[in-house]
Amino acid sequence: MLRFKNLTLDSPLLLAPMAEFTNLPFRVALRELGGLALTVTELVNARALLELHPKALRLAAAAAGDRPFGVQLFGANLGELRDAARLLADLGVDLIDLNLGCPAPKVNAGGGGAALWRDEALLVKIAAAVAAAVPLPVTVKTRLGWDTVRLPRLAPALEQAGVAAIAVHGRTRAQGYGGAVNLAAIAATVSAVQIPVIGNGDVRSHADAARLLGATGCAGVMIGRAALGNPFIFRDTRCYLQTGAAPPPLTADAVLRFMHRHFALTVDFFGEATGCRLFRKFIPGYSARLPHRRRWRVETQRLATVGEYWELVARLGGD
Ligand SMILES: Cc1cc2nc3c(=O)[nH]c(=O)nc-3n(C[C@H](O)[C@H](O)[C@H](O)COP(=O)(O)O)c2cc1C
Repeated sequence: MLRFKNLTLDSPLLLAPMAEFTNLPFRVALRELGGLALTVTELVNARALLELHPKALRLAAAAAGDRPFGVQLFGANLGELRDAARLLADLGVDLIDLNLGCPAPKVNAGGGGAALWRDEALLVKIAAAVAAAVPLPVTVKTRLGWDTVRLPRLAPALEQAGVAAIAVHGRTRAQGYGGAVNLAAIAATVSAVQIPVIGNGDVRSHADAARLLGATGCAGVMIGRAALGNPFIFRDTRCYLQTGAAPPPLTADAVLRFMHRHFALTVDFFGEATGCRLFRKFIPGYSARLPHRRRWRVETQRLATVGEYWELVARLGGD
């Protein structure tokens, strides 16, 4: 059992936030399969939320089928991040996560995401101000540092600041997605604090998750890209961690059934035009496990209507 302040999680498995992917319909569809303890939205601009920008409010929306969930904030202004956290607490979210890891130039240019590592004193001040402002657990999602490994040294200050848990992608910002995840640095972070540390990076299977837990002593595992295409990874990994039983092979039929459910939820939530457009990005993940993978990919590039989706399913033999 994992505890983030007053929030108890019934599995050590978390969904990694992924911009344009971990939207509400995807999270709800994943939840239906089980195994997933906590989801987090993609990064949401604190200022946009305070300005009640409709897109930001939509990113922070909750659904009964997706609890507990956290909203991830990014920004570099202490007051804005604190006030946005208060707003989210009033809206009834379960957890607030601070983005300290995003390497995107657009986010870093404003001083947010991984760029916060360039002023560690400010970073800790922001974490403390946000944690003090709300009764909810406040977590951080971070990399190991900007260009060198700094987290094991900074983690105690984050704990002191009131951060309830640390999720760490085991690479520095400078590493991008290259090279191996630094398990030793994740383990050193675990040793430095009492709060739960959640390991993240390159977990592609139940066996990878078990290895990460074993090698680092992490309290939990966060999985991102592997869930795109294999949404069963949380259910299968939980089962493997509990019983040692290896999951059955993933069938094309199971992937298709999930894809149809995910598509229906996406169109329901976003409407037909936006839903179809957003769904195009998910097709390569699913189709990698389907017959006619290339045709799926090519023929859905301009997917615009529900009718087109089902026509394609009929053509490629997927209903
Ligand atoms: C398309 C994409 C979007 C992402 N967006 C976010 C984000 O909004 N916030 C965040 O903290 N991390 C984001 N990440 C990083 C992931 O949460 C995760 O740390 C990273 O992908 C490594 O985990 P994985 O190997 O399991 O995918 C993103 C990653 C990808 C691939």
